[in-house]
Amino acid sequence: MTTDTTGTVARDGESRPGGPADSPFIRACRRRPGPHTPVWFMRQAGRSLPEYREIRATVPMLESCRRPDLVTEITLQPVRRHGVDAAILFSDIVVPVAAAGVDLDIVPGTGPVVAEPIRTAADVQRIRLITREDVSYVDEAVRQLVAELGDTPLIGFAGAPFTLASYLVEGGPSRTHAKTKALMYGNPELWHALCGRLAEVTLAFLRVQIDAGVSAVQLFDSWAGALSEADYRRFVLPHSTAVLSGLANAGVPRIHFGVGTAELLGAMGEAGADVVGVDWRTPLDVATGRIGPDKAVQGNLDPTVLLAPWQVVEAEVRRILEQGKAAPGHVFNLGHGVLPETDPEVLTRVVALVHEVSSRRADQG
Ligand code: CP3
Repeated sequence: MTTDTTGTVARDGESRPGGPADSPFIRACRRRPGPHTPVWFMRQAGRSLPEYREIRATVPMLESCRRPDLVTEITLQPVRRHGVDAAILFSDIVVPVAAAGVDLDIVPGTGPVVAEPIRTAADVQRIRLITREDVSYVDEAVRQLVAELGDTPLIGFAGAPFTLASYLVEGGPSRTHAKTKALMYGNPELWHALCGRLAEVTLAFLRVQIDAGVSAVQLFDSWAGALSEADYRRFVLPHSTAVLSGLANAGVPRIHFGVGTAELLGAMGEAGADVVGVDWRTPLDVATGRIGPDKAVQGNLDPTVLLAPWQVVEAEVRRILEQGKAAPGHVFNLGHGVLPETDPEVLTRVVALVHEVSSRRADQG
């Protein structure tokens, strides 16, 4: 595969041959041809891997995110095991918010829990802007990882303002986002102040990762699908745009992802993404029609399909690769994160299948 990639690069004379910028993943993000369709899995670090569970047995989640040696090891595990085309930094979307002074913990079996949920302007003001020193462990982990990963690109990430605001306002995970939306509709001024501040924290956090050497970034707006397009455009888009457009000159592709976002795909692209993540509800050819021809897509195997018999998985992978051909660039992924009960062997087989099917396609084309 490296031979092919180098050959392609020699033809268009663009990025440095062989480095992460020339990898199948970055090429697909940039809508350039590559040797095969690249594949990685959201939440591939952790979750279903026994070698991850062993490490985490004695170390709480937030502590593991703050220890560069552990971050490096956990991030590398799925790369070693599955041969995915990209690594994603092991961390969590609440890590920068905790660094900004918000008292929170990640509770096993629940997720992020905030001690004093945000309700007032004074609460918003207590969210400090972060500097590199506040997240020096992330800076260090990314540098170690970039050295270890060689030609495999590392994806940095952050939570988008709406999804972060949901945890901060609700105080923890929520199915309806009722308190969040009540604040958004009832006190738009406070809402915009909160999201404006979260956008600043997020932008600073992604800049630290980019300066330390990540090859791409993904902005997770996992819960944006809770909103209508009109409300998304009014209450969320300006803030996500502040983050993504703030990175326009950073030299790395920007992926923008959410769940249940069929109605929002166009707007999420407009926020300044190079790649739009699509969940399993929208076929990739339909999604591309909504996103437009100047952006790549990422997705979109239903994570629960991985629990079905192999012939079902195989048929779905083939269908998605076929529909992905409609897009100017396709990064194969799940439509949301790996479920903890997934058999890691199935993930490894999916990687091999995506590579095999899409390379054959390239040979024929
Ligand atoms: O899944 C998504 O929607 C991606 C965005 C997101 C992350 N964390 C990124 C992440 C969201 C919405 C969260 C919040 C969060 N944090 C939850 C969800 C709670 C809810 O509202 O349903 C949970 C359970 C956590 C805590 C957490 N984060 C744990 C226990 C772990 C480690 C292993 C695991 O279970 O996945 C994480 C890691 C994490 N969160 C990563 C990312 C991108 C690490 C990278 C990776 O696993 O690939």
